[in-house]
Amino acid sequence: MKTPVIAPSILSSDFARLREEVDEVIRAGCDWIHIDVMDGHFVPNLTIGPPVVKALRQHFQATFDVHLMVESPERWIQAFVDAGADMLTVHYEATPHVHRALQMIRECGRRAGLALNPGTSPDGLSYLLADVDLVLVMTVNPGFGGQSLVPSTLAKVAEVRRMLDDAGRHDVHVQVDGGIHPGTIRQARDAGADVFVAGSAVFDEPNRALAIEALRAALRE
Ligand code: DX5
Ligand code: ZN
Repeated sequence: MKTPVIAPSILSSDFARLREEVDEVIRAGCDWIHIDVMDGHFVPNLTIGPPVVKALRQHFQATFDVHLMVESPERWIQAFVDAGADMLTVHYEATPHVHRALQMIRECGRRAGLALNPGTSPDGLSYLLADVDLVLVMTVNPGFGGQSLVPSTLAKVAEVRRMLDDAGRHDVHVQVDGGIHPGTIRQARDAGADVFVAGSAVFDEPNRALAIEALRAALRE
């Protein structure tokens, strides 16, 4: 089994103190920083763009995991690469040219992720198995932090892990995002996830080191 990766989502952080918030979770021992990009079209919310990623990059070496919840993400890939993204995840539902979008990310020398909404079948992944470094199984409908995990998504985590393993893609990460907290993380792990995004479970807690440790402890139980 892969070493678990904890990726706090800065969506739930205090944006007025963004640099300190990121600093705190890095010091608290998180693995990646998950950055939620929303365009007000693909999802009903607006968040962060390339200038914010670029500004954070000046201060941190950590892996920046950029989750693009935007329509036609291929329009934005180069800008986020230039801003300092290490990995970019695009939604299957966001473009008719998802294969091209994944190729563009890899041609930029970055790791490519494919995200599936709760209502999206993993069937399309069978044509993209060679083109991904990560599959993000959304465990909530994207757009907002603080929602409850949709239970039916856990079976999809297992199915995606099986598809990847059957294709010999043991190296590819399976990420879960939404509703992950100490009470749900173990189920996601048991289903086959190895990268755990947590927004409110980390940033709504006053002590981020304890919050991250609570997630790791639940994985060890
Ligand atoms: C939802 C975002 C998530 C969100 C998770 O659209 O992709 O990354 O911040 O928040 P929690 O962990 O609070 O469900
Ligand atoms: Zn996300």
